[in-house]
Amino acid sequence: MDDALLIAMVGLPARGKTYIARRLSRYLSWRGHPTRIFNVGSYRRELVQGHQTQAWFSPDNVEARVIRLNLAMRALDDAFEYLRGDGSVAIYDATNTTRRRRDLVLQRCGEEGVPVLFLEVVCDDEAVVDDNILATKLEAPDYAGMERDAAARDFRARIEHYTRVYETIGDDDSSYVKLIDNGRKTVVNRVHGRVSERALRFLMVLSRVQKPVWLTRHGRSEYNDLDLLGGDPNLTDTGRGYARALAQHVKAHAPEGLQVWTSTLRRTIQTAEPLGYETFQFRRLDEIHAGICEGKSYAQVEAEMPEEYAARKRDKFRYRYPRGESYEELIERMDDVVLELEREHRPTLIIGHQAVLRVLYAYLMGTEREACPHLDIPLHTLLELSADLYELRESRVALG
Ligand code: SIN
Repeated sequence: MDDALLIAMVGLPARGKTYIARRLSRYLSWRGHPTRIFNVGSYRRELVQGHQTQAWFSPDNVEARVIRLNLAMRALDDAFEYLRGDGSVAIYDATNTTRRRRDLVLQRCGEEGVPVLFLEVVCDDEAVVDDNILATKLEAPDYAGMERDAAARDFRARIEHYTRVYETIGDDDSSYVKLIDNGRKTVVNRVHGRVSERALRFLMVLSRVQKPVWLTRHGRSEYNDLDLLGGDPNLTDTGRGYARALAQHVKAHAPEGLQVWTSTLRRTIQTAEPLGYETFQFRRLDEIHAGICEGKSYAQVEAEMPEEYAARKRDKFRYRYPRGESYEELIERMDDVVLELEREHRPTLIIGHQAVLRVLYAYLMGTEREACPHLDIPLHTLLELSADLYELRESRVALG
């Protein structure tokens, strides 16, 4: 359990804990820390008979209190089980609103030898809480089949029960991050260790508003025609035709405020030209570096360097071209791009390259990172990715 970490969420219901847990889980998994969420509400729905109305959550309901504690401990035990196996990070998605409950979490983590980072989400803006209730709770399984107004009343009463006993984190001994009012203020205490620091960097840029991200490879290049790796070739006539078709599509359908990013290589810059947008060029978006294989065809690599060819076939994710890069390393390189995308408030069109876009796609769509080298990102196709709170959507438009 070398890199093991338990991230324990803290906060009243409808503050966005589950949203943050899911986004963080997707990011940490993409960075190579297998992460799973243990949501105590799901344990309740699975293990407790019937439907729990607000009264069940009252601190005065002694019988339910015992059941709630058992459910919470069961989820925590499963989290440790996961960390003893292949897991690296367990996100314990529960309210953990009392000091006593958090002390219990700390005690169990101490017994298991697992460090814990508390992640508290605070939001006192009633309008935001109401939005959260309307956006996520009324359609949730707890309220299936219930009339919306009655469901909202029940949920607000449930929040009241938690509010009566809520104690915000204030002790200086534990490791915690407190996110207040959606980015207005962040309090950080004793955050150490590779995974916690990585999580913190991500949390600092994470926003509730997810902007559409459009991805496309450059138009067909001279090297595509010759089946050569890497280099800095120009577009072919067909590629220039794609660039014009892309420009037409963007003109007709682009979301408001779209910004355009390219790599520093000619083929992406030329693809952006007909758009007439100001573009931002990032070296980080340059294609995976094929080292001494740059400018060679796959057939040449197979004939001249059969061991390299075979090694790549065996493990395309970790394989590094001699003096070049692997997909695994490309994820490291793309980390800043991902954080920049999260920080951005505008929709973004990225005109990039196959390997780079595979890696970005894996992050944006939550795809298993080792599957990156096999993702299908065809030429002359625009991928329009968008997301709302919990759902990721993709549409593909073939152009040119
Ligand atoms: C729930 O049962 O929905 C929430 C459990 C908790 O308070 O963590």
